[in-house]
Amino acid sequence: MCLFMYVRKSLRRCYLSGVPGRCRNPRSRMTLSLANRQILLGITGGIAAYKSAELVRRLRDSGATVRVIMTPAATEFITPLTLQALSGNPVHTALLDPEAEAGMGHIELARWADLLLVAPASADFMARLAQGQGDDLLATVCLATRAPVCLAPAMNQAMWRNSATQANADILRQRGITLWGPAEGAQACGDTGPGRMLEVPELLALLASRFDTGLLAGQRVLITAGPTREAIDPVRYISNHSSGKMGFALAQACADAGAITTLVAGPVSLPTPARVTRIDVTSALEMHEAVMSRAGETDIVIAAAAVADFRPASVAADKIKKTAADTMTIELVKNPDIVASVTALPTAPFTVGFAAETQDVAGHALDKLQRKRLDMIIANDVGRRDIGFGSDDNAVTVYWPGGSAGFDKMVKQPLAQRLLEKLVELQRSKKQHH
Ligand code: PMT
Repeated sequence: MCLFMYVRKSLRRCYLSGVPGRCRNPRSRMTLSLANRQILLGITGGIAAYKSAELVRRLRDSGATVRVIMTPAATEFITPLTLQALSGNPVHTALLDPEAEAGMGHIELARWADLLLVAPASADFMARLAQGQGDDLLATVCLATRAPVCLAPAMNQAMWRNSATQANADILRQRGITLWGPAEGAQACGDTGPGRMLEVPELLALLASRFDTGLLAGQRVLITAGPTREAIDPVRYISNHSSGKMGFALAQACADAGAITTLVAGPVSLPTPARVTRIDVTSALEMHEAVMSRAGETDIVIAAAAVADFRPASVAADKIKKTAADTMTIELVKNPDIVASVTALPTAPFTVGFAAETQDVAGHALDKLQRKRLDMIIANDVGRRDIGFGSDDNAVTVYWPGGSAGFDKMVKQPLAQRLLEKLVELQRSKKQHH
């Protein structure tokens, strides 16, 4: 299918969609898909670089955060200052720049991106990428990132048709890099043919479509995230180090997958993912109430929250004053187990728990899988400082009755996407066996 038809069709799909929670307006659907996304835009040397300025502006209008990397040749066509003003972020140009590396180094940039788009991608850049060269910042980041890499080629029609460029394009596609375009038409050099960079609205529609996986279309998902706070008195509480990042990443991935997503969040300071209904709670009892009043109408529950197992038996009405005694005792009572209450429902949803462990991770996770009657449990080692609580990364092992799978350390957002793929596979297999 030709690219223009694809874009037109996907826009039409948006207009016609009657699925609850789906928007009928392609512009706002696109805006929602790109909201809160971290887009790394690479610009290489070509006249089409002027379109990249508009692309940055439109991406930001859609709620995305944009960082720009320019090759030295790109700076001959458009200034870093323009891109800096439009993106609101410093523009990265050099690989071996100690000052830039101290701000956000090339590996951090590679890890930061939800998606890396190179637009325009010149013939020279495609050749260097196909050879796996890391001879400038952009090529290095392309090699280092685990985010999807998309290229919008732009060059003279003869250069595009050249068998060397075509061979490079094939190599890049085989390695999982997506090529958008080029389009055909009149070129800046006076030629006519294939080699024009796609127009900004087309690139925006393609970018938005990359974030919509449709895996959970129409399903209702309830996710818990973050810590709970158990009040001791009006100024003190018992809590833990959960930042909510893992649960929020899952909520974003579920919304991207077309699920009608509700997020029950403990006290965290994170923005609400696009297309997600958020319910803020503080204590385990509040979280229990928020979950149980909705779990009956939910297809999937994912319990990523770090719920306090105990709460003070009573909450002092006033601030507890220091006494002469060297010790004080607070009596604690057990909180309800939220996820176990969900699986005890007569028609329980597909239920996923997490296991936060510091030792014998597998043993404790398998015990919780069985005891809480979960369909799947995601175990992480919260004794490690580089993953788990508060970190942008996580490494987990998923267990389900009859199997397990490991997921190496990666940023929580792509990990959430991978975990969702596993969840959907297990949910389908459970449905087949019932
Ligand atoms: O929030 P981040 O900083 O991104 O960190 C992510 C995380 C480490 C918090 C997350 O990946 C994680 O492991 N969440 C679960 C933490 C936890 O409470 O684990 P647990 O082993 O104590 O509990 C097991 C399961 O029972 C969990 O699904 C938990 O949500 C649930 N539970 C526990 C107690 C309780 N009273 N009710 C529950 O539903």
